[in-house]
Amino acid sequence: MNKKSIIIATVFAFALSLTAFVGVGISSDGPEDITLKTAEGKKPSIFPHKAHQKMEGMECATCHHGKDADGKQAPYSGDSKDTQKCVSCHNKDDMANLKLNTFKLAGHAQCKECHKAKKAAGNKNAPTKCTGCHPKKKQ
Ligand code: HEC
Ligand code: HEC
Ligand code: HEC
Ligand code: HEC
Repeated sequence: MNKKSIIIATVFAFALSLTAFVGVGISSDGPEDITLKTAEGKKPSIFPHKAHQKMEGMECATCHHGKDADGKQAPYSGDSKDTQKCVSCHNKDDMANLKLNTFKLAGHAQCKECHKAKKAAGNKNAPTKCTGCHPKKKQ
């Protein structure tokens, strides 16, 4: 191969690898650990994302979902549009339901409710106290 064809082949291989990763809209597993916070950032919460993904009986669809044309919740499709940030739908402009229209409300409804159910079922490791998810700030 001459120099020019090597360059063309390299560029082609690179482009191909890009389409393999991002071209088809398959979502990645996302970050391993996430600090969740609102724009105000008053009470950041710690969220071990990967650890949750690996828990027994836990699926992406347990937490992620979409929205249909009528604004109702749609089941997780596996597409990256359904793993958008919660606030892209749970905000005051896009959600009529006053019980779910902030990150705090959606987060508490999902995280706390599951932890409470797990605790009731005997799991002591799912925190239900404020500081379990919102660690105290260092003095
Ligand atoms: C226990 C709940 C839970 C489970 C299970 C879960 N996720 Fe997440 N995931 C979250 C939360 C919460 C966020 C952060 C959303 C935010 O920042 O608003 C997140 C963020 C993400 C992000 C990054 C989104 C972004 O734009 O920042 C991706 C990608 C993602 N998850 C994919 C997955 C996939 C794929 C699975 C299944 C293998 C999965 N998640 C399982 C709760 C979960
Ligand atoms: C693509 C838009 C969209 C995204 C992104 C989204 N939601 Fe939702 N979610 C909805 C809609 C629509 C409903 C139904 C609201 C209603 O019933 O009034 C809903 C309902 C809920 C509910 C109540 C029903 C249930 O399943 O328990 C919770 C809790 C919830 N979402 C939490 C979250 C969390 C946490 C995230 C981020 C990991 C998230 N949502 C991301 C659109 C979305
Ligand atoms: C469907 C159930 C479910 C949901 C939803 C869920 N969790 Fe959990 N979480 C668990 C369970 C079960 C454990 C305990 C795992 C174990 O046995 O070690 C846990 C543990 C934790 C821990 C403690 C981890 C540690 O190492 O001690 C934190 C922090 C946590 N969850 C935060 C969150 C946050 C924040 C959310 C919402 C974004 C969330 N969880 C959503 C089930 C859930
Ligand atoms: C199971 C996890 C979990 C527990 C337990 C929990 N929260 Fe939260 N909380 C969240 C998540 C997730 C959010 C949304 C992301 C963020 O701002 O941290 C949130 C948001 C908030 C916010 C909004 C912060 C802002 O910047 O607007 C406040 C206030 C709050 N929580 C107070 C509390 C209090 C008080 C308790 C105890 C009674 C508590 N939370 C228990 C997960 C939890």
